[in-house]
Amino acid sequence: ANRIVSGIKPSGDLNIGGYGGALSQFIQLQQDYDCFFFIPDLHAITVPQPPDVLQRRTRDIAALYLAAGIDPGKSVLFLQSQVPAHAELGYLLQTLAVMGELGRMTQYKDKSDGKSSVSSALFTYPVLMAADVLLYRTTHVPVGDDQLQHLELARDLARRFNQRFGVELFLAPEPIIGMIGSRIMGLDDPSAKMSKSNPNTNSCVMLMDSPELIRRKFAKAVTDSEGIVRYDWESKPAVSNLVEIYAVFSGLSVEEIERRYDGKGYSSFKSELVDVVIEKLVPLQARYHEWIGSPELDRILKEGAQRAAAEAAPVLAEAKRAMGFASF
Ligand code: TYM
Repeated sequence: ANRIVSGIKPSGDLNIGGYGGALSQFIQLQQDYDCFFFIPDLHAITVPQPPDVLQRRTRDIAALYLAAGIDPGKSVLFLQSQVPAHAELGYLLQTLAVMGELGRMTQYKDKSDGKSSVSSALFTYPVLMAADVLLYRTTHVPVGDDQLQHLELARDLARRFNQRFGVELFLAPEPIIGMIGSRIMGLDDPSAKMSKSNPNTNSCVMLMDSPELIRRKFAKAVTDSEGIVRYDWESKPAVSNLVEIYAVFSGLSVEEIERRYDGKGYSSFKSELVDVVIEKLVPLQARYHEWIGSPELDRILKEGAQRAAAEAAPVLAEAKRAMGFASF
């Protein structure tokens, strides 16, 4: 069967970029795939996290997955740190990954740039990510654009392992990149990804922002002087980004949006963009508040970890056997 594994790090509050690139895709894909959605909390600590903050954000993301429509009856939902096989396979794969290829990872370069102390786990981050997906013999991984390079490494490591140890154990998973929403840029600067770590709060719309705040942020969003709602990343990146956000939240195609605003200026476009975003986020926020206070959330995560661990165990055992570890 076609199987999906993907996750969203609890390293900051979730913004509409992660919604467009990941969460909204997860909801659609769970109809057709056997899905494992997890929270890569081990990845979050590659940069320092205060323990209480990590704990709160981890639970937050879990509640947001459920609020957005992940169905725990259909998909397995769990925390990475609760399935030790991830860390164990991550270590085993580190012996196959080489320094040069990890040093070429753009996310590592961006995150370490100018920092005087960088954890060694930030460097090996993509190897743990490879373990996350290979452990389940995943066929497809839905991600935003920025994770493609990491996924390519996972594919390389899968082939390298199989070849070196003469097995057909790991599959090289295919990325699933949404036609729309895989690369949402900052509202203040369409050349920089909308990111949890951007200090400019007007750049970034959070899933938990109030309707007033959302309206204010979009009002400040940069456009251009042409006054025409047209999707063209080359010459109109700021407007194209807004059209893309509109498409993610309305379900309309880019062409439909262009047609709808033909002959109208940016102000009605922006104001209705805010409406479609709020229309999705307000009910999502209400469901979030129900989940976050519910002990059911913990039960779902616990059961999810058990189901994930049961899937991962035979694959890890086979990898260790192939490498020559004792298997009694
Ligand atoms: P993370 O937590 O940075 O982001 C989660 C997902 O959201 C996507 N994303 C975006 N998509 C569009 N526009 C944006 N501005 C935007 N910002 C984030 C990301 O591409 C990602 O799909 N390394 C991963 C987490 C991870 C993972 C995995 C993912 C760990 N193990 C295994 C898939 C499979 C990360 O840092 O994503």
